[in-house]
Order: sequence, then C-alpha cells, then structure tokens
Amino acid sequence: MLITFEGIDGAGKSTQIKKLAAYLKQEGHEVLTLREPGGTEVAEKIRLILLESRHEISPVGELLLFSASRAELVSEVVRPALAEGRTVILDRFFDSTTAYQGYGRGLDLNMLRTLIAISTGALTPDITFYLDILPEEALIRKFSEKSLPLAFENEELDRMERSGLEFYRNVHQGYLDIIEAEPGRFKSINARHGVQEIHACIVKTLKERLQDRS
Ligand SMILES: Nc1ncnc2c1ncn2[C@@H]1O[C@H](COP(=O)(O)OP(=O)(O)O)[C@@H](O)[C@H]1O
Ligand SMILES: [Mg+2]
Repeated sequence: MLITFEGIDGAGKSTQIKKLAAYLKQEGHEVLTLREPGGTEVAEKIRLILLESRHEISPVGELLLFSASRAELVSEVVRPALAEGRTVILDRFFDSTTAYQGYGRGLDLNMLRTLIAISTGALTPDITFYLDILPEEALIRKFSEKSLPLAFENEELDRMERSGLEFYRNVHQGYLDIIEAEPGRFKSINARHGVQEIHACIVKTLKERLQDRS
C-alpha cells in the first residue's frame, strides 16, 4: 500500500507521518517512510540542489530536478518495496509538483501531467492525506520552529520556503483544485486540530479504506 502526505510547509506532515509509521509498525506492517525530494543517493543530491537557498533555479529547471528525483525514488525504492508487500509512506509525491510547480510557479498543468506520468510510471497512491492549513498559519509554525522572525528573505529558510506568501497562497489553491478533481483518493484534514486528533482521524480513515478493500 502506498500512502502519501501532502500540504504546504508547516502543515504537520512530518509530525503525522512519524506517528502513523509507529502505529502501523506496532500493528505488524512493514513500513518504509520516505521523503521527496530524496530517498536514494542520487535523489538526496538533487534535494540539496533544490533546497539550497543561494541557488537560483528556473521554474522548468526546478520541475525537471524534482521529476528526476522522483523517477529515481519510484524505480529504485518505492516499486521494489511495494512489490515486497511493504507499506510505503511518502512525505510529498507528485501532487506537490502540481501544486508547487503548476499553481505556484505557473507551469502548464497538462505538461506537468505528462511529466508526472513519465517520472512515476503512472504509480498512484492508494490514499493521500492532505493537511489543510492557511499559508499564513503554516508559515508562522515553520518560522517559530526555527525561531526566526517572519521574513521571507531570511537566509536560514530553504529555497522553496523563501518563495513568499503569494506563492504559498497559489499553492494552497492548487491543492484545493487537485482534491476537487480527484476526491476519492484524498482525505482532507483540518491541520489546525490537535496532533493527536489528526492522528486518530488518519488511523480511522485507513481502517475504513482497508475494510472497503477486503
Ligand atoms: N496539529 C498541530 N498543531 C500545532 N502545531 C503543530 C501541529 N502539527 C505540527 N505542528 C508543529 O508545526 C511545525 C511544522 O510541523 P511539521 O510536521 O514539520 O510540518 P511539515 O512536515 O508539513 O512541514 C512543527 O513545529 C510542529 O511541531
Ligand atoms: Mg516536513
């Protein structure tokens, strides 16, 4: 089973993935947790290029780097793990490309669809948890986590985080459109709820989906 988490930076993906992985392991699942971009030696190198804050990268260059990283992750790690019957949890997958490079950077959505199909070999998650939060609030969380003042110019933010509020507003709208187009795959959860409450909702949803399958 492939489970993915989506949402803007600061929504609580990493927090929930950690809890879900622990829960599933305790339930006897073999769990593999991976993040995008990254997850293989080559993909982690691409991650460094993408997030290093002093790099200027064109939108198309950014798209292709994310896609290259994804292609490596899917073919080298995700598909083999799924074939072995493991549960794979991904911190971001191709919906992030639609939201960030499509809605955020303004690249053509049809072109993105083609590239996503190429880089994933059309691999689709069984379920995608979307943690919904307003960009303003999510960024306040991120900044306070790093004990930084609310300023996008800050050197300690990564390249994506420095993209500014307008960018994040477009990304947020992108996610809403993506979910509307494919409601069956997504479970959207209000990320302002407590950590435990969100975790309980995720577990309940997964149990329901697993029951529906058997
Ligand atoms: N439900 C929540 N309510 C309040 N704060 C949260 C919640 N979930 C996560 N956080 C905090 O918000 C920050 C961002 O969470 P994180 O899990 O790193 O988000 P992401 O991985 O989506 O960027 C962290 O400081 C985390 O402790
Ligand atoms: Mg995270």
